[in-house]
Amino acid sequence: MFVKDKVAFVTGGANGIGLCYVKELLKNSAKGVTIADLDPKRGEKVVEELSKEYGDNKVIFVQVDVTNKNELENGMKKTVETFKSFDILINNAGIMNDAIWEKEIDINIKGTIHGCLLAMDEYIPKYKSSSEGVIVNVSSIFGIEPFGGLPIYTATKHAIIGLSRSLSQLNNENIKILTICPGPTATALLQDLFDKTPNNSVEKYSDAMKGYMAVMKGMQEAPFVAENVVKLIGDAKNGTIWNLENNEKYEVIIPDKEGLLKK
Ligand SMILES: NC(=O)c1ccc[n+]([C@@H]2O[C@H](COP(=O)([O-])OP(=O)(O)OC[C@H]3O[C@@H](n4cnc5c(N)ncnc54)[C@H](O)[C@@H]3O)[C@@H](O)[C@H]2O)c1
Repeated sequence: MFVKDKVAFVTGGANGIGLCYVKELLKNSAKGVTIADLDPKRGEKVVEELSKEYGDNKVIFVQVDVTNKNELENGMKKTVETFKSFDILINNAGIMNDAIWEKEIDINIKGTIHGCLLAMDEYIPKYKSSSEGVIVNVSSIFGIEPFGGLPIYTATKHAIIGLSRSLSQLNNENIKILTICPGPTATALLQDLFDKTPNNSVEKYSDAMKGYMAVMKGMQEAPFVAENVVKLIGDAKNGTIWNLENNEKYEVIIPDKEGLLKK
């Protein structure tokens, strides 16, 4: 397992799928994991629980709003002070709420870009503990297909695919960039979609949202996503995109322009 003895930084790691990444990394003998999230009370509680299970000095919480580059950088600094290396970044923090779409763009796109640039320019090249570092950017099935109910969320997740594919071409400092596209997964984010619709959508799109929810197939559990992502961190090739939906995993192949023109 690549993650053994490695140090990872997980944004939005205090809850939902992010927390499952943290647990899966620890289960697979990561040296240390940093949870970068908003709420210190929740973060400290999670650290206490995980320390009981995996031992002291394996996991820390840093209070970070990913839209704020300084906070993110301070969290990364604290990570190398504590664990002495920096190998893996999972850009997971995200919201799904088109009613506050400017904030959604800030968190989902700007937060991921801050993370990528800090990790690629400084933290992975300087502090990786082996020849390779890995960045996982979290998109969604709505990063590869349109969704009229949440067009702005969908745009943010399409942006993550373009960002990851482009950064992966650089292959700077042997940093592998992967993209993950989960399908509906049982977390607070999705529960909010059910509870708050139509208040979490721009009003004119809310019928499309209700329509989708009515036909939505079942939800998978978050540990399924986390188990696969931790394996992919070691096994997947740079620049690849992975769909994890309905408890199935497959690689998403985007045709190049020549392939499209031939059709
Ligand atoms: N749950 C799904 O069905 C699903 C499907 C596809 C993609 N995703 C994506 O997976 C990621 C995680 O989703 P989830 O369902 O676990 O969500 P969640 O709401 O359960 O957890 C998200 C975590 O991110 C944190 N967060 C939110 N804004 C933040 C900010 N500005 N700075 C730092 N942390 C912040 C929250 O505090 C929370 O701990 C998101 O990017 C989401 O878009 C989720």
